[in-house]
Amino acid sequence: MALRHFLTLRDLSSSELQSILARASELKRLQHEKQIFQPFVGKVLGMIFEKSSTRTRISFEAGINQFGGSAIFLSPRDTQLGRGEPIEDSSRVISSMLDIVMIRTFGHEIVEQFASYSKVPVINGLTDDHHPCQLLADLQTYQEHRGSIEGKTVAWIGDGNNMCNSYIEAAHMMGFKLKIASPKGYEPKPEFLSEFAHCVEVFDNAEDAAVNADLIVTDVWASMGQEEEQKLREQAFANFQVNEKLMDIAHPDCLFMHCLPAHRGEEISEHMLDHKNSVVWDEAENRLHAQKALMEFLLNEQIK
Ligand code: CP
Ligand code: NVA
Repeated sequence: MALRHFLTLRDLSSSELQSILARASELKRLQHEKQIFQPFVGKVLGMIFEKSSTRTRISFEAGINQFGGSAIFLSPRDTQLGRGEPIEDSSRVISSMLDIVMIRTFGHEIVEQFASYSKVPVINGLTDDHHPCQLLADLQTYQEHRGSIEGKTVAWIGDGNNMCNSYIEAAHMMGFKLKIASPKGYEPKPEFLSEFAHCVEVFDNAEDAAVNADLIVTDVWASMGQEEEQKLREQAFANFQVNEKLMDIAHPDCLFMHCLPAHRGEEISEHMLDHKNSVVWDEAENRLHAQKALMEFLLNEQIK
């Protein structure tokens, strides 16, 4: 029995990642054809959410239900986790009753600690440092629209946040060039970046990063937990908006993605989500298919 977790993208090998992406597109086709595929009848997914969510919650819950299993939504308000029961005790108990667990929380060390005591696969549904599930959907979306991302150029415009970190890992694993444009002081952590000099370049303005890009991606200026910095960040990021002018600098086939939720008038212009090269709605839908492929992989690894 191989217990596998998915806390960052690099918990997979590059070839495992590729096969999960291919499987995600296959599962999407089955779902669109309304085929019933229920390999996980009786399996229960636990979903621990310490931060808000629309896409992550719905895609995981719908996904396990489509597979014939079920999900339990656990908010810290309703569990002893919210009253300070230690992570290791919670993990031992929760994982003794469930088949797979997804956690969205603040510190990345919380998912690491939970996973180290868990008897079942643990999936990171977003921490302050990583959002690997979103990358599965983004990579699937790129491949479905443009084919292989290997050798392409991706421009990350904005905060050096959890999404940006997961893009950095994706660049390394999928063989694309990542150009990050962040205001001074908001770049990804240098100690993390230093490992990825072969595939990542950092710029202090959006235009230089966007030149000839094949994909432009951005995210909110203030992430969950940074609400008090909103005003300060609006000033710092004012020149880092993704808009039609920035898209014109990129390659004509350049796609636009955003993990959502988006703030029109801040990190994106008013109509950016409706730009002809925007694939944000496919990207959001692909959370469902990509995470089904991920759960299938992790659950099947356990019975090997
Ligand atoms: N992109 C994303 O993770 O969305 P939610 O916060 O709605 O889950
Ligand atoms: N960087 C954002 C992503 C939301 C899906 C956040 O952490 O709030």
